[in-house]
Amino acid sequence: MSTQGKKSRADKVTTQTVVDMKQSGDKISMLTAYDFTMAGIIDAAGIDVILVGDSASNVMAGFETTVPMTLDHMIYHTSCVVRGVERALVIADLPFMSYQVTTKEALISAGRMMKEAGAHAIKMEGGKSISSTVRRIVDAGIPVMGHLGLTPQSIYKFGTYKVRAKEDKEAEQLLSDAKRLEDAGVFSIVLEKIPSELAKKVTDSVSVPTIGIGAGPHCDGQVLVTHDMLGLNKDFSPRFLRRYADLHSSMTTAVDQYIKDVKSGDFPNENEQY
Ligand code: KIV
Repeated sequence: MSTQGKKSRADKVTTQTVVDMKQSGDKISMLTAYDFTMAGIIDAAGIDVILVGDSASNVMAGFETTVPMTLDHMIYHTSCVVRGVERALVIADLPFMSYQVTTKEALISAGRMMKEAGAHAIKMEGGKSISSTVRRIVDAGIPVMGHLGLTPQSIYKFGTYKVRAKEDKEAEQLLSDAKRLEDAGVFSIVLEKIPSELAKKVTDSVSVPTIGIGAGPHCDGQVLVTHDMLGLNKDFSPRFLRRYADLHSSMTTAVDQYIKDVKSGDFPNENEQY
């Protein structure tokens, strides 16, 4: 079988690569993707990690929260992304209630994500309450990324998307949760919307890399939702978001021009027909 054009396994980013990057001080870049085309562009640009986040619920499906996302939805999006990626590590979110009921069910969900979707690792939200489940999944050979701080699947418990762990008690709990996840065998932990100093403390206290979103510059890597950083979404402007493009305006201008060209008869011209 020819392997021409295919990246060799040695070029691929693995969970060990990201752990090594923490040791060497190389920052880890991570973005979301939910489909083949976007994943291919981001991968070819050289991103280290692609997260098939359950933010697909908001971005792709138009739901208000991530709660409605099902395991079958996430398997579909993840399989589309995996087909578009040659180099990056692809991590898939396990959606709400696909891992909280029993460890057995969590293991089955994680296994489906690996076997049916081709994910390289999974991500789960929570600390102490899921640590024994995380250990069981890792023991089965499935790499797990943790997620602490603002955990959107628990939005109905928190009631708001505000910064988490500003008070000492919650900050101490978060630090202890991070250590429990590390003990349970996670290879990395996302820290979402927590004070920068707390993120530094966690990053210095665990041996696995932390990936921040709204958690300041001291994390070992950063993640953003691609649709937000490309400016496709005009209505979401949290302080932590840096926009690298204004694709909402570019697309609107392009669609506007297309409509004008169709209406005027300018499109298609003689070079655009058979
Ligand atoms: O679902 C998602 O996109 C995420 C990131 C924001 C970390 O969990």
